[in-house]
Amino acid sequence: MQLKTLFDEKAVRERIKQMAKEIESYYKDKTESLNAICVLKGSVHFFSELVLNIGMDVNYSFVHVSSYAGTESTGRIRVKSWVDETLQGKYVLVVEDIVDTGNTLRYILSYLKKYKPADLKIAALIEKQKYQHGIPIDFVGFKVKDVFLVGYGLDFEEKYRNLPYIGYIE
Ligand code: IMP
Ligand code: MG
Repeated sequence: MQLKTLFDEKAVRERIKQMAKEIESYYKDKTESLNAICVLKGSVHFFSELVLNIGMDVNYSFVHVSSYAGTESTGRIRVKSWVDETLQGKYVLVVEDIVDTGNTLRYILSYLKKYKPADLKIAALIEKQKYQHGIPIDFVGFKVKDVFLVGYGLDFEEKYRNLPYIGYIE
């Protein structure tokens, strides 16, 4: 199995910094504080780099859900941990590593909406263009075709998460 680089570390970090600025300007006139939700495990590095670059008051929440086995989404979402604070009336930003079928995000959003946040937005580092997932992603880092990616938090069977760049398996 060979790993090829798709986005090197510099490109990833620069794009995330730009996203942070886009996010800041969206919230600027709306609120002073933001509730960012990190979707574990894959979003750990994206979340960290993103919030470090958002110049406003950011509250952190973490949810841990999974749907993948190998390189295919199983479509069955397992919730391993969930937010324990109320998000009612809050400005909520869901931070997801990658959107593929959209099943994971659809599931998360349907439950978060029940809290009646003032505003609910999505930032995804990568959007795959394989499926018509139909979820409008408010802030997208990179769009890719149908490739299986690893690194910068993304895994293949729990491996490669700590690669500092985004690569693909040939
Ligand atoms: P979805 O539910 O099909 O949209 O898949 C979303 C989740 O599957 C992401 O949050 C990732 O954790 C995982 N995933 C999807 N595509 C990839 C990939 O190319 N590499 C690694 N993980 C992926
Ligand atoms: Mg994920």
